[in-house]
Formats: sequence, C-alpha cells, structure tokens
Amino acid sequence: MTSTANPQTTAPTGLELPHRLRAQFPILQQRLHGRPIAYLDNAASTQKPHAVIAAVADYYRHQHANIHRGAYQLSQDATAHYEAARARVAEFLHAADPAECIFTRGTTEAINLVAQAWGGANLQPGDEIILTELEHHANIVPWQMLAERTGACIRVIPIDDRGELQLQAYQRLLSSRTRLVAVTQVSNALGTINPVAEIIAAAHAAGALVLIDGAQWVAHGATDVQALDADFYAFSGHKLYGPTGIGVLYGKRELLEAMPPWQGGGDMIERVSFDGTTYAGLPNRFEAGTPHIAGAIGLAAAIDWVLEIGFEAIAAQEQRLLALATKRLAAIPGLALQGAPRYQAAVLSWIAVDPPVATLDLGLQLDLEGICIRTGHHCCQPLMERLGLAGTARASFAPYNDDAEVERLAAALEQILQRARRRSLAAAAAPVSQPARPLEPTAAVHPVAGSAPVAVSAAAPGGSVADPEANASVNRPPTPLAPAPNAQTLAYPPASAASPAAAAEAIADLFEALPDWPMRYQQLIELGDAMVPLPAALKTPAHAVSGCQSQVHLVLRVRPGSSDIIEFRADSDAGLVRGLIALLQQLFSGQEAAAILAFDAAGFFARIGLDRQLSLTRRTGLDALLRRVRQLARAQNAANGTAGLGPGPGP
Ligand SMILES: Cc1ncc(COP(=O)(O)O)c(C=O)c1O
Repeated sequence: MTSTANPQTTAPTGLELPHRLRAQFPILQQRLHGRPIAYLDNAASTQKPHAVIAAVADYYRHQHANIHRGAYQLSQDATAHYEAARARVAEFLHAADPAECIFTRGTTEAINLVAQAWGGANLQPGDEIILTELEHHANIVPWQMLAERTGACIRVIPIDDRGELQLQAYQRLLSSRTRLVAVTQVSNALGTINPVAEIIAAAHAAGALVLIDGAQWVAHGATDVQALDADFYAFSGHKLYGPTGIGVLYGKRELLEAMPPWQGGGDMIERVSFDGTTYAGLPNRFEAGTPHIAGAIGLAAAIDWVLEIGFEAIAAQEQRLLALATKRLAAIPGLALQGAPRYQAAVLSWIAVDPPVATLDLGLQLDLEGICIRTGHHCCQPLMERLGLAGTARASFAPYNDDAEVERLAAALEQILQRARRRSLAAAAAPVSQPARPLEPTAAVHPVAGSAPVAVSAAAPGGSVADPEANASVNRPPTPLAPAPNAQTLAYPPASAASPAAAAEAIADLFEALPDWPMRYQQLIELGDAMVPLPAALKTPAHAVSGCQSQVHLVLRVRPGSSDIIEFRADSDAGLVRGLIALLQQLFSGQEAAAILAFDAAGFFARIGLDRQLSLTRRTGLDALLRRVRQLARAQNAANGTAGLGPGPGP
C-alpha cells in the first residue's frame, strides 16, 4: 500500500482476527473497574503482545551486556542483536542501508535531532520551514525553537473543513526560501491520511527537504522511504506494539553524513583528545551513550509481529471498526464528530454538544465502564484552535479491537448523554438558592479581624456560595435586568471552618467512608453540581487558567479590609474538576494566607484517596489554580512581613 492510498481493503479478515490477536496481549485479559478492558487509545500507545514482552525479557535474562565495547562474547552477542534490530528496522522502512536508521527515544527525539543537527547547520535568517495545521506539538515546537535560534520563519499549510490539507495553499507557500517541509503522515487527532508522496514531490521541485512524522502511520500500512523519496522519516516504537523509549530517525545517508552530531559522549566518537574530537560515522555518530538496547530488540520483535499479521489484514480490521464507530457515533443525538477526511486512519474524534459534556468527563465516565479513550487537545493545540475547540474525545483502533467494543463505546456514550440531559433538566428546575448539600459546611466560621463584609447570600456546599449570579449558569436563562457581575461585586465563599486543617477533617469524614473510585467520583460530581457556577461574564481569558483536559476560570482576591484573607471562586467545564474546586474552596477560601501555605494539599488529597485525581489535575488546570492561590497567599505573607513562614508544601 502506498502512503496516499486509503487503507480500505477487501481482505477477508472476518471477526476471528481480533479474537486471535487479543489472546496474545496479557494486558487485555485484565479487567478495569470490574469490566473487560476496551482499549481504544491505540493512537497514544498500542499494547504489547507476548512476543515483544518475551523478546525484551529474554534479552535481559540471557543476552544483556553493554554493546560496541566488550571484547567478551556476551557483549558481542548483545551488539549483534542490537545491530540486527537496526537491520530489521531498515527492511521495515525499506531504507537502502541500516546505517540510515538512527535509534532515538521516539518520534519527538528524532524530530529534535533533525531540528538541532540539520537545522542548526543549514538554516539562515529568512529561510522558511513549512508545517501544517494538523501537526502534533512534537512537529511544531522543535521547529519554533530552531526558528528562534536561526531567524528562520514558519509557514503553515491550512486545512479545510473536512480536516484535509489545502494542497493549493501548500503550492503557494512553497518558494525558493523553503528549506524544509515537516508534515505528519497521519493526523493523530482527526485521522487524516496526508498525501505525503505528493507533498514530498512538490517540496523537492521547490528545492526543499521533507521530514515525515510517521508516528501515526507505521502501525497501519507499509512504509517505503525510498519510494516516497522522504529525506527524513521519524516514528516511535510504542505506537507499533513495541517498547516505550525507542524510536527511529531515518535519514538519507548523504544528509546524515553532512550533519554535525547533536549530542556528545561515548560511542559517537572516533578519537577524543583534549585537543579535539573526531566523530564516528553513521549511525553511531548520532547515538551518544548507551542506547536502549532492549528497546531496539523489542522493536524488532514488534515489527516481526506486525508483518506476520500483515498490513492488509490490519488495515481491513481497523477500517471496519472505523466505519462501524463512525456510523454508531454519528447516530447518537448530541454528539458531533470532528473532521471527515476522505482518507482516514482508524482514529475518530468527537465532542458532546447537546447537552455539552466536557471531554474530560466523557473520558472519566467511559473509564468507569472499562473503556479507555483519549480526551483533550491531543498535543495539537493549533489544530484545536482551528476547530474552535478546547479538545475532543478520541477513539483509535488496533486490530485486537472488535465490533463489541465499538458497541460498548456507543452504548456508554448514549447513557452518558442521557444522564447529562436528565441532570441539566433537574438543575434547570431546581430553585437557584437551594442547591443540594452533600457536604455540610462546618458550623464554626473563623472570625476575621478587620474583614470587610462580603455579599454572601447563603453558605452552600463545598464552601461555595449561592448567589443571584448563578442565573448566568449554562443551565439557566440569564436574568435580563441583573447587572453584570465583576470580581469586586462577586460573592465569595466564607471560611468553612476555623482553618484549612479543620475543613479537611469534614471532607475526610465524607471521603474516607467511600471505599472506591467510582463512589468518590460520583461524590465529586455531586459536589461540582452543587457548587454555584461562576457567572459567564467572568469566564474571560483574563480569568482563565491553563490546562489541556478542561477549562478552568478563577477569580481570586485578598478580602477587602483584611490583609491576609484569601478568597476565590472558580469553575470548570468538567464536572470532576468542579468537584475538586468545591473541595479547594471548602479548604481554602476565606482562610488566612499563612494557614493556606502551611496546609499540605497533596498529602490531604492522597489521604482521601484522590491522589490519582491530583496527578490528573496537572492536566486539568486545577494544579495551576492551586498554584495561583498559593502565589497570592505567599505575596500577601511577604507584604505583611510574615515571609518567614516559608513556602510550605507545594504546589
Ligand atoms: C503525530 C504524532 N507525532 C509525534 C508524536 C510524539 O510521539 P512520541 O511521544 O512517541 O515521541 C505523536 C504522539 O502521540 C504523534 O501522534
């Protein structure tokens, strides 16, 4: 199959292929939250068959020694296995020579290698690098860093509404200034298969080189770097059923030979003296230090495994699943599929629009059903911006997936939307000032000397407040005559207890009684539902805190008339994050700066069994929110001359 062909094929695979393959994957025999795993996040990383696990284990059990160095048999054998793996990779890519295949940590490192070694030596101010709107950050950021260093400029091929590259625009971007075109063969977010042969030919006609990011292609169809005439080609082992931490940069020999090394160290030299160093030839010149020997051997085993199944059978099964998933999800009212490229790898993206459900919540609720999908911006923020979205939910298929898993995904999504519909109807019907009270605020409220009165209408769960601005919530029609709230007129939650530690005890009482994650998750969702939403007028970029899995807005201040009482309101599009915000408000809003700084939030979240969610918050914006609260507390402490209390536990 050529890279531009739709991998649709007529190969008769039937339903027995996934069944036969699944048996070879130990991880797929496990259960998740008591259900069989439906692993539909193969674009992020594929699972590993016995053959790969055994090859890596065998290597460590029987063959390990450092390579290229020992005079003894074991080292020579390890070297032979490592170099045999390189030869296998070269065959797989149809490279002319194994020395053109450099082992790297993955696609990201391969692209950085080219950006630094080739780009650093060859680019001048005014030179141009062409990227596309579909690129993963791994194929954007290294070029931006290079452009900053060299004065080169970046140009971007736009996509159309189907999610396909606009090739006429590409032709217009190409010029004598173009030095390199770096393009993904398959979009990890939309599945678009790009016509890379055509793109390469056009670049070459303009005198430019081309780097193909093959991360999302190599597991789905045959690759022939010579037929493509690719100058550089990068991929990662872990997306090809191989180990993590191993990948490949293919480069044409004459290009690699003309490039300076990018990292110095052992194994990449010919001779070192304090007067200077001469470098080894290919491929060692680009592999400084002890490489991931087991990874290379595991990658070769993965290639053997893939080729034994054959790309015809793999593509046929994946395309069946894609067609079924597209049909089933397109028929679910309220879901909107994203992109509709004519040639699409087995990657499907969607959002829930009616009712709106944050992609993080979709992912978390599917997880409770044993279904693993990816949510967020997929490391494609420029693409998300083009689509006008914060992120999508994405399923991506491998040949070990079957129709039943697609049906489970569709059924679970239908249920999630139905539940969300019921909740939004219930919220619209509930009186504004009396939200449910799953977590009773502690009665004692710390009196604050010198604090100005705050416009608080009623204490609500999670240390939150119920207020008239709640009319601006997504669930309610806005009150036409209500003045637009601002950060000063907003009602802030008062202290829920005498100190964060005392508030923590009330929360701990509740959460320690919940034995497992599904119950804690449900509790968090209820806390989030009960929290009064931040008025829409305050959900502005100025109040946004960044996070790739959800949107978070924060309004934070020192209470007027006090010198060290911190109070805040926050909100998120994701139910889980709203629940966590409710907890943070209960812990911290209305508390003294020094007490906030002294409280170990991470330790507390671990105590109540939410540490998994706390690590998740690094991607949700909650971590940034916590940091901002602590930053303000620290600044107030410093201004009040109490900096001696120190930074306290992070973040
Ligand atoms: C298209 C694309 N390029 C590059 C990468 C980066 O791969 P890695 O993290 O293995 O280096 C990914 C990973 O998802 C990807 O999908």
